[in-house]
Amino acid sequence: MKAIKLLLILVVFLALGSYSIAQYRGDGPKQTVVNSLHDLRNRFTGATLVCEFCHFPHKTDMVISSPEAPLLWNVRLKTGPYTVYGGSSTFYGDATVRDPSRASRANSAAYMTLLCLSCHDGTVTQAAWYDNMGLGGTGTFTAPNIGHGGTSGLSGTHPLDFVYSAALATLDGGVKSPTEGGTVRIPYVGTPALPLFKDQPTDVSGRVECATCHNPHSNANGNFLRMSNAASALCLNCHGV
Ligand code: HEC
Ligand code: HEC
Ligand code: HEC
Ligand code: HEC
Repeated sequence: MKAIKLLLILVVFLALGSYSIAQYRGDGPKQTVVNSLHDLRNRFTGATLVCEFCHFPHKTDMVISSPEAPLLWNVRLKTGPYTVYGGSSTFYGDATVRDPSRASRANSAAYMTLLCLSCHDGTVTQAAWYDNMGLGGTGTFTAPNIGHGGTSGLSGTHPLDFVYSAALATLDGGVKSPTEGGTVRIPYVGTPALPLFKDQPTDVSGRVECATCHNPHSNANGNFLRMSNAASALCLNCHGV
């Protein structure tokens, strides 16, 4: 009897343990951004701060065009429009693909792409910040161009801002099924867990955004990727079983 009780306690303990492991909790500690390629101090004489190039604790509404932007965003957002992945006869996400520049409170997952495009869409030559470091609020820099701010937009980049659900995985037959549900705050797929972003906390499924594959705070894997892509391991973390 005692042994059964102990066993039951162990089972409950293990179940709780795996529950806590199975939650995706965000990018983790942020100090890894310091001295990374996203530490823009090396681009501006006199710059002293790191996080504040992207997030600022006050008055970010003076700089950005969308006061709804999350994360105290401090870089002027692009208005778009961007063309999106053109689709193919084998792409099941096509019905849900959006132009991320249409991000809003209702379409909030799209910010996890639009925030990156504020610097990476190929049209940035001057960043626009709330002048928090006495830098005049502007500065010239170049960031690798993936988006092509012009007419080609995001059509030549991996499909983005579309719903990656368990149902899509079933339809496709070749991608892993995400962990999702109304009580899963941030759905995720694969090991290590790659996050899929919801528009609203109560949504069941999440979307593939730039920050699904990239962690802007750590360049430990190169290209700010969430995991190494050696032998295409990142691709296979979703496109595999
Ligand atoms: C180059 C721009 C950039 C810099 C610099 C930057 N961040 Fe971020 N941060 C982002 C973006 C983009 C997101 C949204 C995507 C994501 O969550 O990965 C984000 C998300 C976050 C989040 C919410 C997600 C989570 O994991 O909790 C926090 C908190 C945060 N950043 C804090 C910081 C701090 C603190 C610093 C400085 C030590 C910093 N960031 C530097 C771009 C940046
Ligand atoms: C404030 C502007 C800014 C924001 C916002 C920003 N980046 Fe960057 N990023 C840069 C700059 C500048 C560089 C180039 C640094 C260099 O080459 O010295 C860079 C470099 C990179 C690189 C290349 C790293 C390498 O190893 O060569 C990747 C990948 C990248 N960023 C992804 C992202 C993603 C994904 C996001 C959003 C989650 C993002 N960035 C947000 C400015 C930004
Ligand atoms: C499905 C995963 C995935 C998504 C989604 C994704 N990326 Fe990437 N990204 C990669 C991989 C993998 C690389 C490394 C490619 C390589 O080997 O050069 C990369 C490279 C980059 C680079 C460096 C390119 C260069 O020329 O130096 C930048 C910048 C970048 N991504 C930004 C973004 C932005 C911005 C978004 C969203 C608009 C995004 N990525 C969405 C997987 C992704
Ligand atoms: C976060 C998970 C994830 C990662 C990482 C990822 N993909 Fe995908 N990818 C998807 C999903 C989901 C689809 C949509 C599949 C569908 O609709 O059938 C997709 C679509 C595609 C498509 C278009 C398929 C079509 O039928 O039109 C190609 C090609 C592709 N991915 C290649 C890659 C490559 C190459 C990499 C690595 C650089 C990669 N993916 C990384 C999840 C991912």
